[in-house]
Amino acid sequence: MLQNKLGITNEIELSKEEERITKIKALELFDSNKINEFEVGTFNGLSQIHKYLFEDIYEFAGKVRGENLAKGNFRFASAMYLEDILLKIDKMPQNTFEDIIKKYIEMNIAHPFREGNGRSTRIWLDLILKKELNKVVDWSKVSKEEYLLAMERSPIKDTEIKLLIEKALTDKIGDREVYMKGIDASYQYEGYNTYTMKSIDTK
Ligand SMILES: Nc1ncnc2c1ncn2[C@@H]1O[C@H](COP(=O)(O)OP(=O)(O)OP(=O)(O)O)[C@@H](O)[C@H]1O
Ligand SMILES: [Mg+2]
Repeated sequence: MLQNKLGITNEIELSKEEERITKIKALELFDSNKINEFEVGTFNGLSQIHKYLFEDIYEFAGKVRGENLAKGNFRFASAMYLEDILLKIDKMPQNTFEDIIKKYIEMNIAHPFREGNGRSTRIWLDLILKKELNKVVDWSKVSKEEYLLAMERSPIKDTEIKLLIEKALTDKIGDREVYMKGIDASYQYEGYNTYTMKSIDTK
């Protein structure tokens, strides 16, 4: 299991505390409006998101991984090339929906962090869609099974993920409910469902 700043040595306990703390941070990120100050569509912007969410838990928050990572049969970008790949992704266009999904897929293949890629990269994607198209994804409308299958397929063919995300686009870009439900869905994709954003909300 991962070394952490909380001094937790039990895997299940760590995953629960990680969920609780980073969900508090995700809500703060929205309510403080800091989310709208980050760079949009670059690794630097993604790193800002990741650092904000995970800095109280992992030393590696916001930092490029040095280890290789795989999921299922897929090996994400080799750590050896990661820095170069991230510079290239920064330069990818983000003018159209197609461009943006292509960029998202490449960032997923990069998987720049040791942990927390899925959750932080979906927030990053939403910031691009918001800035460029005045839309965000209502992740609560995207089922976990369909999403994960489409992402697994995405390095080879992007049709499924494109359709799935397109169907879930909404123009409710500053909507706190949509954001909170979206974070819950995003965490659910990764197996985190002990806390809801609503249960964390003290407002
Ligand atoms: N087989 C796969 N091939 C390509 N991409 C995948 C695959 N499986 C999952 N993904 C994508 O990677 C994301 C997260 O996967 P993974 O669990 O490896 O990352 P993580 O760093 O642990 O992120 P998190 O902590 O947010 O779960 C998924 O949400 C999905 O977008
Ligand atoms: Mg994970």
